[in-house]
Amino acid sequence: SVQLAARAAWTLGGNDNGTMITAAPRLYPHMWSWDTAFISIGLAHLNVDRAVRELETLFAAQWRDGMLPHIVFSEDGGYFPGPQRWGAAELNADAPDSPRTSGICQPPVHAIALRRIVDIGGGSPAVDRLLTDGWPKLYRWHEWLVRHRDPHGTGLLAITHGWESGMDNSPRWDLPYAAVIPGPDLPPYERLDRRVAAAAERPSDAEYDRYLWLVEQMRKVRYDADQVVRTSSFLVGDVFVTALFALASEVLATLGEQSGQPSWRIRQLRGWARRSRVAVASAYDPATGLARDYDLRAGTWLSTATLAGFAPLLCGGLPAADENRMLATILGPDWAGHPDLFAAIPPSVSPNDPAFRAREYWRGPVWPVIAWLFGWAFEHHGWTAEAARLRTECLRLVEDGTFGEYYHPLTGEPLGSQQQSWTATVALDWLH
Ligand code: DGY
Repeated sequence: SVQLAARAAWTLGGNDNGTMITAAPRLYPHMWSWDTAFISIGLAHLNVDRAVRELETLFAAQWRDGMLPHIVFSEDGGYFPGPQRWGAAELNADAPDSPRTSGICQPPVHAIALRRIVDIGGGSPAVDRLLTDGWPKLYRWHEWLVRHRDPHGTGLLAITHGWESGMDNSPRWDLPYAAVIPGPDLPPYERLDRRVAAAAERPSDAEYDRYLWLVEQMRKVRYDADQVVRTSSFLVGDVFVTALFALASEVLATLGEQSGQPSWRIRQLRGWARRSRVAVASAYDPATGLARDYDLRAGTWLSTATLAGFAPLLCGGLPAADENRMLATILGPDWAGHPDLFAAIPPSVSPNDPAFRAREYWRGPVWPVIAWLFGWAFEHHGWTAEAARLRTECLRLVEDGTFGEYYHPLTGEPLGSQQQSWTATVALDWLH
């Protein structure tokens, strides 16, 4: 409705601190890499110049080696771990001094945002500029992932911290985190997140100790990308990140063709996309019908059933019979078709799973932004009825204009932060 769109616009305006649109007003007063990709999509409907500027602000913080950092810090405090705790600029010459950044990355969804912005605002000078100047930066970002995060050369991209998956405390990471043992020299810290969000909706203290311990391990090797991969006690081949990378590389290749980028780079991107698609398909487990992550430290597949197991639906690559079965599963009674759901959207963990926690962050709640990703991919695949259904259901979920960070899947209650930019922004895109 017009009213919901107006509220979404107002939410984004409220989160504008003058230099960036922050992820959320109090819990996340900085720029997060994948949040910003989504935020720029919603902004493109309101003001395409501003959408371009958000991505340019993120790209300006790109590390000299090509990594797009997971947080670009504003001048605001109130978030932990902040720039001092990360110490990225002090320790690594590739990190920019200004703005300050964290020392890890987040899922590579930016090319998908660029595609959407070109579709919405194509022909505007700002979008042309973004295509010309931003495309090579995205190419370098993808190249960084291939160079530093594919330790076995199979196309399955590794993450070195649960935060890099964006799905911080998903049960996917419980086993690998069980092997992360915080040392006695973990510097003390105070959690600031629980001043804003209810403890029951956030990760536990035991989880936070591990999150911070991994940061200490990275500090010890000065965030050197290859040394982090060699030494971090958490190293997992992330099937969802890999699927997003495959999809985004394909999308970036097509955008490159349309904007006259060098053909060898376009071929390179298509090659990376192909290899990562094969890696995602190889992670498929016929026993469960889902794709698995791979714990590179333990040398074992991780069969925990979560929404990330549907990664092959994002990038394709499965034989048709398996793909159809997977589509039926995500729409079926364990997931989007569960009879007790408030809206027919697949939650982060199935309500039928013993690990399901309805309010607890990535352990059960429904995340509109992930539904948007599946919707966009469904549309891309020609599953238009399924995409339309997701859109209708998501709009019903967010219709009160609170724009929760995530939602209780059984009651529709908004959880975590409110006025979360990425929820407002995907609503704006669905409304157009
Ligand atoms: C948080 O602080 O919870 C973020 O998800 C970390 O990136």
